[in-house]
Amino acid sequence: MDATVEELMHRRTLPDEALRTLLESEDTSLADSLHRAAREVTDARFGKRIWLRALVEWSSVCRNDCLYCGIRRGNRKAERYTLSAAEILSACERAYRHGLRTFVLQGGENPSGAEALVPVVEQLRARWPDAAITLSLGELPFDLYARLRRAGADRYLLRHESASPRLYASLHPAGMTLAHRLACLDELRRLGFQVGSGVMVGAPDQRTEDLIADIRYLERFSPDMIGLGPFIPHRDTPFGHFPAGSAETTLRLYSILRLMHPDAMIPSTTALSALHPGGKLAGILAGANVIMPNFTPPIQREAYSLYNGKPTTDGAESLTDMIGELAAAGYTIDPGRGDCIKN
Ligand code: 5AD
Repeated sequence: MDATVEELMHRRTLPDEALRTLLESEDTSLADSLHRAAREVTDARFGKRIWLRALVEWSSVCRNDCLYCGIRRGNRKAERYTLSAAEILSACERAYRHGLRTFVLQGGENPSGAEALVPVVEQLRARWPDAAITLSLGELPFDLYARLRRAGADRYLLRHESASPRLYASLHPAGMTLAHRLACLDELRRLGFQVGSGVMVGAPDQRTEDLIADIRYLERFSPDMIGLGPFIPHRDTPFGHFPAGSAETTLRLYSILRLMHPDAMIPSTTALSALHPGGKLAGILAGANVIMPNFTPPIQREAYSLYNGKPTTDGAESLTDMIGELAAAGYTIDPGRGDCIKN
C-alpha cells in the first residue's frame, strides 16, 4: 500500500499537501491504492452490506436561487409541484413494502410548504415506527427544525456546499451565507438529528484548496452522513455552460472521506451515476455504503430536475437490477434502518 494512503488509513488525517497529492496525482496506482484502502475500511466496519434509502422528492418549489441548481427560483422553465400528504404516504408505503427502512423527504427550500410536513412526519412515525425518517429541506427557521424533530424525524441532510467563503459566495445569491449554513448544521445537531453534510465536486471555480477546506470542515464537524456528487450543468441555470465535475476526483474524495470517517453513512449518489453508467458501483467500491433509489412518483420525478441527464436507472423500478448488480459484486442489502453508530 502507498505510504500516504497508509498514513491516512491509520491516522485518519493528513497534511494539506498530502491531500492535494491524493486529489491531483496522475499516478493511477495511487488512486487504486486509495480506493482499495477505503473499501477495506468500509468492509471491516460494515461487512459487505449496503443500506437503502427511499428518496421521495416531495416538492420542486424553492425560494432560493443557487446558481447551479435547476429548481432555482429564477428558472421560469422549471415545473413546480408539491406532493400531497397522501402521495407522500403512498410513496413511503411502496418503499416499506420493498423492504426499505429509511424514507428521505427531499425538496426545494420552502419554509411555508415545509410546515405541512410536520403532520406528515407524525403520520409516518406512527405508521412505521421501525423506519427512519430523513429530511432534506434546506435552511429553515430553527423552530421548524425543532418541530420536525419532535414530530419524529431522525436525520437531516444539508450539504454545506463549500467551506470556502469565496466559493460559497460565487455559488449562491447575495444574502445566502456560509456562516448561516454552518449555523443551521450546528443547530440540527443540537436538536439531536443525525446530520449529513457534503459538497458538489467540480463546481465552477472550485480549486483543490477549496476541496481541502471542505475536508477540514467535515473533519471538525464529523457528520453522520456525507453526501458527495459531481457538479452537473443544468441548461436553464447561469452555470449551464460550465463543464461537469470529474467523476474521478469525486471517487477520490469518497475514499479520502471514508478513511477519515470510518463510521459515516455515505451514499453513492445519483449525480455520480449520471456521469458514468457504472457510477453506482464505482462509488461503492470507493467507500460508499448507501444507495438511494428514487420513490418519487414517475410523473413528478422528471420535474425534479437539479441537473440535466438525471438517470432513469435510479428509480424504484430498477431496484431489482440494482440489487442484482451489487450481489454480483459480493454485496448484500441490510434490512435495518442503518443509523450512523460512531465507534
Ligand atoms: N449538479 C450536481 N448537484 C447538484 N445539486 C444541486 N444542483 C446540482 C447540480 N447542478 C446538489 C446540491 C444540493 C443537492 C440536493 O443537490 O449539492 O445540496
